[in-house]
Amino acid sequence: MKTFKIALIPGDGIGPEVVSEGVKVLKAIEKLDPSISFSFTEFPWGCEYYLKHGKMMADDGIEQLKEFDAIYLGAVGYPGVPDHISLWDLLLRIRKEFDQYVNLRPITLLNPTLTPLKDKTSKEIDFLVIRENSEGEYAGAGDWLFKRKAEEVVLQTGVFSRKGTERIIRYAYEEARRSNRTLTSISKANALNYSMVFWDEVFEEVGKEYPDVQTYSYLVDAASLYFVTEPERFEVVVTSNLFGDILTDIGAAITGGMGLAAGANINPERDYPSMFEPVHGSAPDISGKGIANPIAAIWSVSQMMDFFGEERWGEAILSTIKDILNEQESLTSDLGGSASTSQLGDRFVELLSAKTSNLV
Ligand code: NAD
Ligand code: IPM
Ligand code: MN
Repeated sequence: MKTFKIALIPGDGIGPEVVSEGVKVLKAIEKLDPSISFSFTEFPWGCEYYLKHGKMMADDGIEQLKEFDAIYLGAVGYPGVPDHISLWDLLLRIRKEFDQYVNLRPITLLNPTLTPLKDKTSKEIDFLVIRENSEGEYAGAGDWLFKRKAEEVVLQTGVFSRKGTERIIRYAYEEARRSNRTLTSISKANALNYSMVFWDEVFEEVGKEYPDVQTYSYLVDAASLYFVTEPERFEVVVTSNLFGDILTDIGAAITGGMGLAAGANINPERDYPSMFEPVHGSAPDISGKGIANPIAAIWSVSQMMDFFGEERWGEAILSTIKDILNEQESLTSDLGGSASTSQLGDRFVELLSAKTSNLV
């Protein structure tokens, strides 16, 4: 029997609402598969914790998290605490301290009715964005000079190291080779005349080791256009931290919205825990109403199962997402249904159990 230790950080707003549905799915797997068990430890960190304790997580929080196999996070950030504090002291801190430099965000249309794009089918919207997740514009480097108003100058520096750029690009080439797909690099060297010139050079250089991988390279503005007009151009995409952040919200928009967008923050060397989370935030506009869509959070459980080497469960979850997307009445209001968050989760577990009772 394998036991996986999972740290739960439900966080803020709809974070706890969707995480509890993901945990339902994990508990169902445990019940259905005698070879797997999970142990859960919940951490109450987030904006409420900050308002009580003046910090987003315990002082030794990073130390506490080290012993886990994975972190499952809901969302961080809520009105009342400045976003740059809440995010930098919890979510971004974990990504950085645990060197989760690979951010995997699938852009896959699981049901053809969900895309707002006219005439695009599931075959045409099916790619993986590999976002650099440790440096670039998220290095936290900058300065606020000359505090006197008229002379203020503010710097936010993008940091692109040889090591950081090479490792994400190499990871993407490996993934493209492994899955026999094309690789597209998205950058912006025409305007960003240091960082993106360097990025493009590394992309080309590393590419020499992968002559079997067909590559493309687009400027991020044109790529944003193609995400919407010709998503079929993309199979595996590699891009910098900020571009990846923005592009994957466009990706969410063409595949059914934020309620369906999943992400995995991976430390490939497994020196530290990896973290699984929906792409969306705490959604203060709908939190507390029990109507948040938990599918994104459940999809990130599928990514967690793949990461654990339990791919049959990863696949079973994805396939059950496809099934539930065919049941209009079982969906939340963002997808035109009337189910609550927990009703969707309950129905999901029913469908998963029916599908997999003879899987093990
Ligand atoms: P958001 O993703 O929270 O919400 C954007 C829109 O999508 C809203 O209209 C919201 O109602 C909708 N939405 C999001 N998730 C949904 C779901 N599961 N079901 C149905 N609808 C959903 O983005 P925002 O409003 O820009 O940010 C709110 C807060 O969350 C901010 O503090 C922001 O910094 C933070 N944030 C955190 C994360 C994270 O923790 N990973 C990600 C993005 C934003
Ligand atoms: C995401 C989020 C975060 C990011 C924010 C909340 C810091 O938008 O995971 O997409 O920019 O990475
Ligand atoms: Mn984002």
